[in-house]
Amino acid sequence: DGDVFKYYAQGHWNKSSSGKSVPIINPSTRKTQFKVQACTQEEVNRVMESAKTAQKSWAKTPLWKRAELLHKAAAILKEHKAPIAECLVKEIAKPAKDAVSEVVRSGDLVSYCAEEGVRILGEGKLLVSDSFPGNDRTKYCLSSKIPLGVVLAIPPFNYPVNLAVSKIAPALIAGNSIVLKPPTQGAVAALHMVHCFHLSGFPKDLISCVTGKGSEIGDFLTMHSGVNCISFTGGDTGIAISKKAGMIPLQMELGGKDACIVLEDADLDLAAANMVKGGFSYSGQRCTAVKVVLVMESVANTLVKKINDKVAKLTVGPPENDSDITPVVTESSANFIEGLVMDAKEKGATFCQEYKREGNLIWPLLLDNVRPDMRIAWEEPFGPVLPVIRIKSVDEGINHCNASNFGLQGCVFTRDINKAMLISDAMETGTVQINSAPSRGPDHFPFQGLKDSGIGSQGITNSINMMTKIKTTVINLP
Ligand code: G3H
Repeated sequence: DGDVFKYYAQGHWNKSSSGKSVPIINPSTRKTQFKVQACTQEEVNRVMESAKTAQKSWAKTPLWKRAELLHKAAAILKEHKAPIAECLVKEIAKPAKDAVSEVVRSGDLVSYCAEEGVRILGEGKLLVSDSFPGNDRTKYCLSSKIPLGVVLAIPPFNYPVNLAVSKIAPALIAGNSIVLKPPTQGAVAALHMVHCFHLSGFPKDLISCVTGKGSEIGDFLTMHSGVNCISFTGGDTGIAISKKAGMIPLQMELGGKDACIVLEDADLDLAAANMVKGGFSYSGQRCTAVKVVLVMESVANTLVKKINDKVAKLTVGPPENDSDITPVVTESSANFIEGLVMDAKEKGATFCQEYKREGNLIWPLLLDNVRPDMRIAWEEPFGPVLPVIRIKSVDEGINHCNASNFGLQGCVFTRDINKAMLISDAMETGTVQINSAPSRGPDHFPFQGLKDSGIGSQGITNSINMMTKIKTTVINLP
């Protein structure tokens, strides 16, 4: 059955005993592009068991050796950028150039992680007891960071490679083993990426990658007693996972409704360029995409015109041609986006372009004069549709931003740094960008969401720390 990509466990490629597969539909052709194994719960049990054993000896592997293997994996990953990017193009319709960038960025992330891990895990802490009242200097407390055990990594479809390695590399450098459950769209790109780790010579069983139906192995994985940490990026499923998971550390990033506040004194050319890049790159399918523009009434006409001029230049078509706007990931996603657009239409939003859709391909659309009673004012389309709300005061913008159940990133455009700082403090989001669209990178920056946008903080350093726990030994003097 050479058509079905095998899953990775026990250091080799396996067929599932289920005899079943999961199809991966190419968003552009809407035909089956690839198939992956539909793993069973017994197979998950075996993977968990071996991941547990492998982790014990990996934790004893010298830190510099773990780093060396990660550097090797990073280099191999970059060498394989072309075939992996090709999968991203076919599985998730990522524009060809962006697909290559995703892989290169992933290699850089893995290398940086190895270096950062050596730095931060190579040092511990010493406390002496006589600083606390009533104590003499008779106790020396030594702390170091030890691994958690088995880390379950669940990345989303929009960065199947990059958001997988952003979980895998910190876990490995910190001495954990990894069980990866890739998204269905993007699973083959992820399997190729895992192959690069395989070629680097990591111990067998340390890394596993199981594919399959969420309904069969989703809850089974996240509720498995063998899992010691879950790092998840995706949608609402994360909220369900957080309710069902056991008493283990969770790292979650669950989307956003990133607001962009544009003040009267803003550089409107800069703002418009960032709205278009932030709102429409990868067709808006980024958790950090600009998802609502909140612009001061007095500059709204000028800003909207500038954005429209740039939207008119966006190319629309297949990812192979490196078009700016490509088909969204699934038909149901396209239907959802269309639902938001139709709701806005019924409620009187101004359509700056005609709404156009062919299959999963939706033409870029700016909706002006959006009001709070429209769904698109609050929900994230994850598509190439950008709503503009005209505001009469900065407070109105901040209030709209803070009324959202999301709190990932936000941004403010102004030439007044004092105002920008005050607005940043007032916005209830994990990050505020001043004079730039939201974005996760550079990948060593902290990345976190408040409210329903997530739990914990990512970025290389924070992820490494999150995937460890503190162990202390106290030396008691007589
Ligand atoms: O989709 C969520 C990603 O974490 C966003 O990453 O800002 O690099 O596109 P990005």
